[in-house]
Amino acid sequence: MLRYAKSVFNVCSQDIRDVMSAADRAHMISFTGGMPDKRLLPVDEIDAIYCKLGREVKQRGLQYGPTGGYPALVESVRCYLQAKGLPVEHHRLLITTGSMQAIYLIAKIFLDPGDRVILEHPTFMGAIAAFKSFQAALIDVATDEQGMEPEGLARAAAQPPLSKFAYVIPNFHNPWPYSMARKEALLDILHQRKLVLLEDDPYNELYFEEAEQNRITPMIAMNNTGLPICYTGSFSKVLGPGMRVGWLLGPEEIVRHAEAVKQSIDACTPMFTQMRANEFLISPRFETYLAGIRLAYKQRGQTMLAALDRYMPKAVRYNRPTGGFYIWLFLPEGVDAASVLHRAMPRGVEFVVGKSFDPQGVKNDFLRLAFCHTAEENIEPGIRVLAEVIEECYD
Ligand SMILES: Cc1ncc(COP(=O)(O)O)c(C=O)c1O
Repeated sequence: MLRYAKSVFNVCSQDIRDVMSAADRAHMISFTGGMPDKRLLPVDEIDAIYCKLGREVKQRGLQYGPTGGYPALVESVRCYLQAKGLPVEHHRLLITTGSMQAIYLIAKIFLDPGDRVILEHPTFMGAIAAFKSFQAALIDVATDEQGMEPEGLARAAAQPPLSKFAYVIPNFHNPWPYSMARKEALLDILHQRKLVLLEDDPYNELYFEEAEQNRITPMIAMNNTGLPICYTGSFSKVLGPGMRVGWLLGPEEIVRHAEAVKQSIDACTPMFTQMRANEFLISPRFETYLAGIRLAYKQRGQTMLAALDRYMPKAVRYNRPTGGFYIWLFLPEGVDAASVLHRAMPRGVEFVVGKSFDPQGVKNDFLRLAFCHTAEENIEPGIRVLAEVIEECYD
């Protein structure tokens, strides 16, 4: 009998593994994982960057590097975030192995078993898994069309024992991006309650219209309350998750602790990919590339919306995304996403059921469709099947 640590039994990452493996099954129309379309990834640009690097730099790329990050990349990410209005001057930056690692590090340095974390519903399943692995108690707050509900946050934040931090994804993961007014209201509540905020923003670059940029200002850039905010971002959704390059920007003390823990986890994020990410980030090609993928994902989103408008029963509600990878469907009363999935899969269509995004793992009257990695021509047939299946479920 193997004597595992108790914490092993709190690990619940099965949902993520299922979603990612489903996304790759060739015979299915998959609306599952939130991964970029491999056909849109900058393979040629990354190849060209690598060929141009000198031998010494390549050798360095195969070495260990500083835990804080490849210095040139640290500097470029600082400039990149500063250009977006983020307060890099008063914060410390850590390069992480994806933003998933940043979330894990914050969980690791704040959570003892039983500690509370406030998070929105729906939320990112990877964060649920990370917080649960530290045996945290998850306090969820509902979201509406402007973001996390302030009354719910105020109630959750007042509940003793006080939560350690709140975790939010204001842009493009959940059905609606947060409004500016809502972000301000949430900042006030968090400040009054002296809660740390973990702001996760991996989709920040993926807005469909330039005008949307005003609305997606990160909360860390709006904060004049003194509230400690840790902000994480990533190149996963734009350059590719295989890069495993993300970052954590936050108060000096918190990030110093995070860096010390990172040292004991992976020593450093691979130098090999940090170098490539750096060269791409500082090249003039970066902006044109971003413009291209924004357009491509916008088109896919529109194709999916047009198919939903055409085929979905009227009783099904859904958001109209202004960026990101997802459309969320809210099912008619009494219809469970698991029964829709069971009928849809034999007909070649799959998606992620709502309860995977519910911190309590229960609510299942909604589901998430990713339009990012499905070939454009498969979107309409997939939605047609889904609409038929949903109709059968409540007939
Ligand atoms: C909201 C959110 N945060 C973080 C991540 C993790 O991204 P990374 O690949 O940078 O670890 C994801 C990936 O799906 C995500 O959707």
